[in-house]
Amino acid sequence: MARQINVHLKASIDRSYQIAINPKVLADMASVLSRKWMGRSVFIITDSIVSGLYGQRLQNDLTDSGFEVILVDFPSGEQSKNASVIHALHTQLLTNSIRRNSLIIALGGGVVGDVAGYVAATILRGVKFIQVPTTLLSQVDSSVGGKVGIDHPLGKNLIGAFHQPSAVFIDPTVLKTLSEKEFRNGLAEVVKIAAALDISFFSFIERNARKITRTNVKLLSEIIRRSVALKAAVVEKDEHESGIRKVLNLGHTIGHALEAASNYSLKHGEAVSLGIVAESRLAVKLGLLREVDYKRVVKLLTTLKLPTRIPQIKNKTKFFRTLGTDKKSEGAQNMFVLLNGIGKSAIGVEVPMELIARAIFQRNGA
Ligand code: GLY
Repeated sequence: MARQINVHLKASIDRSYQIAINPKVLADMASVLSRKWMGRSVFIITDSIVSGLYGQRLQNDLTDSGFEVILVDFPSGEQSKNASVIHALHTQLLTNSIRRNSLIIALGGGVVGDVAGYVAATILRGVKFIQVPTTLLSQVDSSVGGKVGIDHPLGKNLIGAFHQPSAVFIDPTVLKTLSEKEFRNGLAEVVKIAAALDISFFSFIERNARKITRTNVKLLSEIIRRSVALKAAVVEKDEHESGIRKVLNLGHTIGHALEAASNYSLKHGEAVSLGIVAESRLAVKLGLLREVDYKRVVKLLTTLKLPTRIPQIKNKTKFFRTLGTDKKSEGAQNMFVLLNGIGKSAIGVEVPMELIARAIFQRNGA
């Protein structure tokens, strides 16, 4: 009798998708969707703020185009990335008869994309979803690439899935309703992508840094387009982050630990900015990055009004514990993504704890 049965599985479904970036995306969305998705019930998942700004309008547009649309929202903010919000959303969608061929639209910032994407990945074992990011951070980073999920009391983003969207619709004009602080937070991810992958994009941001405002739609469109193109190329090569995709974690290993140690009083973008500075300092100490390039990185973040001076860390235990439990760490040693020059990254760099402690507690940022 055979003692072993092999299950042969080959990826056979094309999961390619388009990312539309232009200032009329939101206004045109209903007619674009009606060409491909007519006949499916649509569930817009958004948060309590974005619902009033863009959710109801999108619901009306889609209804006028002939879709059956349910709009659901949850309280805005990182604290909503938890299992009870997911459970409540599952309940709302099931109560409203969601089907396997329904479409979920994630309308909002990074939290909405992560939560709605995770609902889409899990409900009825997966339904299709579309990302409509409304913050700079989600437009340049989290809406592309299929990482969805929630936080756990033991750390951020520890529960989740890879579930690629079926399309991404990016409208840079919606950034005008973003707070200045949220907008700056998104710029930290832009600097991350440029510093990690493309020196010419980094120089472009340097040249234009003072002109980047929430309403400079032309410049923003270019910045979003270049960031998304760089990220998409990485995701195409390594969807599940077994290698090259790790470069997108630049600044996030220390960033997440700082965020946790501040009890999330630091915003994600601020923590990423500080993480990029601290990790660049480590890169200098390890001989990977020239001091002059470190200064260039710090100067750009400063010009973009992002923080570069690590604040006093009161909860050092939590800081080091998060460094250890961050899902990006592999085993006991901390494996970092570090700059190996501007536009180039080294992945899987082991950094001794004492060096991390010195980079963090030196608190010089310059
Ligand atoms: N935000 C990093 C990634 O999508 O891989």
